[in-house]
Amino acid sequence: MKFFIDTANLDQIREAQALGILDGVTTNPSLMAKEGITGKENIINHYKAICEIVDGDVSAEVIATDFDGMVREGEELAALHTQIVVKLPMIADGIKACKYFSDKGVKTNVTLVFSAGQALLAAKAGATYVSPFIGRLDDISTDGLNLVAEIRMIYDNYGYETQILAASVRHTMHIIDCAKIGADVMTGPLSSITGLLKHPLTDIGLAKFLADYKKGN
Ligand code: E4P
Repeated sequence: MKFFIDTANLDQIREAQALGILDGVTTNPSLMAKEGITGKENIINHYKAICEIVDGDVSAEVIATDFDGMVREGEELAALHTQIVVKLPMIADGIKACKYFSDKGVKTNVTLVFSAGQALLAAKAGATYVSPFIGRLDDISTDGLNLVAEIRMIYDNYGYETQILAASVRHTMHIIDCAKIGADVMTGPLSSITGLLKHPLTDIGLAKFLADYKKGN
């Protein structure tokens, strides 16, 4: 399972990268705004900075909502760095743009996916990644993990190569459940990743080992 971090915060990206288990980064306009990154030039420079920190794929989202605008923006973004993945919204023009970019060999991530039917369209358009938003579905009392399971079944039925990128991950159990279901990738905040490190028995066991070592030395 690939681990992506879902943030535009460079310190957090560095911290995840330093763990040695990071496979990529996802961003979105809200995450950029949260870091105070506004204006085209600053946003572009920020994407470049992220690509310099990580080795893997970096999703950069288009703002346009029409096909021509998405193609124009996506081409600009893809030209920034070989690691850039063009992130497109799950709307009709987004699917058209996804097909356009996949035919050209440009990596894509279809975002804001909330149903199995949307995920099927993304796969048919040749998306590299499809992003079901599990946390936001949970927020409205719908089972986000069930959507991941449905997409897994459909993609396996037909051998679609689109990778399931479980997005809107909120906590460590989301990651574990997504891994059980067979999501190819998860993207979440740093806390959801570092949360996987923690177990009280590890802390107790380590404290005992160190105490016993001190007794003998
Ligand atoms: C995915 O690529 C999105 O950036 C993200 O996972 C959305 O998560 P949120 O629901 O926590 O905003």
